[in-house]
Amino acid sequence: MQTQIEKTDSDKLYSREQMNIVVIGHVDHGKSTVVGRLLADTGSLPNGKLEDVKRKCIANSKPFEYAFLLDALKDEQAQGITIDSARCFFRSAKREYIIIDAPGHIEFLKNMISGAARAEAAFLVIDANEGIAENSRRHGYLLSMLGIKQVAILVNKMDLVGYSQEVFEQIQSQYSEFLANIGITPSGFIPVSARNGDNIVELSNSLGWYKGLAVLGMADSFENAPELSNKPLRFPVQDIYKFTEDNDDRRIFAGRIETGSVSVGDEVIFLPSNKRNVIKSIEGFNTPSRATAYAGESTGFTLETQVYLQPGELMCKAGQLEAASGQQFRANIFWMGKAPLIKGKRYKLKLAGARVAVWLKQIHTVLDAVELTTDANRQQVEWHDVAECTFETLKPVAFDLASDIAQSGRFVIIDNYEIAGGGIILSRIDASSNRIEEHVREREQKWERTAITAEMRSGRYGQRATLILITGGPNTGKIKLAKKLE
Ligand code: GTP
Ligand code: MG
Repeated sequence: MQTQIEKTDSDKLYSREQMNIVVIGHVDHGKSTVVGRLLADTGSLPNGKLEDVKRKCIANSKPFEYAFLLDALKDEQAQGITIDSARCFFRSAKREYIIIDAPGHIEFLKNMISGAARAEAAFLVIDANEGIAENSRRHGYLLSMLGIKQVAILVNKMDLVGYSQEVFEQIQSQYSEFLANIGITPSGFIPVSARNGDNIVELSNSLGWYKGLAVLGMADSFENAPELSNKPLRFPVQDIYKFTEDNDDRRIFAGRIETGSVSVGDEVIFLPSNKRNVIKSIEGFNTPSRATAYAGESTGFTLETQVYLQPGELMCKAGQLEAASGQQFRANIFWMGKAPLIKGKRYKLKLAGARVAVWLKQIHTVLDAVELTTDANRQQVEWHDVAECTFETLKPVAFDLASDIAQSGRFVIIDNYEIAGGGIILSRIDASSNRIEEHVREREQKWERTAITAEMRSGRYGQRATLILITGGPNTGKIKLAKKLE
């Protein structure tokens, strides 16, 4: 059984409308301070927490920081939460918010792509004093890659620039231009001082020249994503349990419904195996069986007829848009690995419930996500590059185009037990050739030319050509030896 994200008490409390917002931006630009302020100023902290943390700061003779509130909450929530980003909860009159304070882009991307964290909107924090930094741009790009379209930019630490309208407008115009280039139309730019609480929950007199919404009002203006339950069914099979009673050969297929809903009696298709079946029962963990289950639920199913399935299959519903299955796809990836992404190396792909060996087949273009310059002639993908590539898996996998269903159109690449890349699928490729054929073809094409032409050779010795094969592992000096011999 894989670990699930436990619902916290805060989750259970809320039956009102909910929204997930991620807070990102360059290091030290004030992300955690913004979140701390939102919690404190909306009265969302547990009783006495603020005073508690302030008292501890005095006792340790260090200045109080709003960011400390998050650490204090994180410790309390630590049990049952399996994600690295701090999740905090606050409320407005309109709805409840889950706010994800992403410590850096690795955590942010990893959690977003693996589905551990979802965000429908983002606050991107830029330090007014320091201005637009590398990660201000890189994170903006990652938002566009992940399809998060509701983005508000908080120009923070306005107190450090004398609340200057000019500084704010300069950052606004520069960063708007960058966002336009990556296809994001921002929901707004807000000048704030998180430390002083200016324009966080209420508009501040210090920033009287600003006529827009405060941060909280901006959050309320974001729209909720359409219900995931209304999308086509996607249920990655995570585990298969056997009933333990004698002679009972039924099996429960367990996992989490990513999108859609499914009812007893529905005809379902498992991909990539293409096996069809009918839902016989929906089994909960310690809950009575039900007629229908919805997106977001961790549950299990039994099927009408006995079938052999492996974990990693994706269950879809007949009559709805089915997932694709295949061994090749084109994708946009962000590389975070210390070692570059190279051809010919075996990586592991995690996509929906599937885990399968994968190879980089082709690099189409590499993009610098900070400068937005592209390079079409790269042989490998370096740390922090964004690249459009074709990948090939060892076995068929089921997937969607990220533009159709993001939940099963995103993947991560594991290199040496670590997440080294995250990506979204752009298109499926009909594979007309497999890896081995490809290898042979590549070898045929890779003739190494020498400086001596066929005419020179035959003119000198009067000999006919002959073929000598020299083989061996990479970098063992084959080419050198061959040239020497010649
Ligand atoms: P990382 O999580 O390390 O990336 O940093 P962060 O973006 O979460 O920044 P954090 O909230 O920890 O703030 C960094 C520093 O900036 C702290 O010392 C804050 O007190 C300070 N700071 C944050 N907001 C403001 C502000 O509005 N004005 C001033 N003057 N300082 C601020
Ligand atoms: Mg922080």
